Amino acid sequence: MNRILYFVFFFLAISCNSSQNSTEEANSETAGNKYASGEKVYQANCVACHQSEGEGVEGVFPPLANSDYLMADKNRAIKQIINGSSGEMVVNGITYNTIMPPQPLNDEEIKDVMNFILNSWGNKGGEVTLDEVKAQR
Ligand code: HEC
Repeated sequence: MNRILYFVFFFLAISCNSSQNSTEEANSETAGNKYASGEKVYQANCVACHQSEGEGVEGVFPPLANSDYLMADKNRAIKQIINGSSGEMVVNGITYNTIMPPQPLNDEEIKDVMNFILNSWGNKGGEVTLDEVKAQR
């Protein structure tokens, strides 16, 4: 008898667990989905320099996480993605004078990656539209 009860509980526990897991997965997918395409663009094009948490490399690649420079001017950031960037810039009090090559992305990808970096790693930078990206071409 005990053994049967044990099996019943065992299977109940497994089935509860798995249904709970799938709800959790579904929830996190809905939460992450909004910027998922931008995250893909980031992983493929930006992560090597700006790093996985957007922290950059001090003095070489400026951070995108909590960057006063990024938050100050979204159109400038769009332009930098399109045309690349060189020359001196000060990000969070640290001077960078290095080179970011132009990024070979279409307008949709730029909108997606902008919205990803504006809303990741604690950033709350709002969003850009496709028209705002087009206007910087
Ligand atoms: C090869 C390395 C490299 C890659 C790849 C790269 N960047 Fe950069 N990025 C830099 C450097 C270096 C600077 C600073 C350039 C300067 O000093 O003028 C910069 C500056 C920036 C800035 C403005 C400064 C700041 O921190 O707010 C933004 C925004 C930015 N990059 C976004 C991106 C995005 C989005 C991508 C991917 C689509 C990307 N970068 C890909 C190297 C890179």
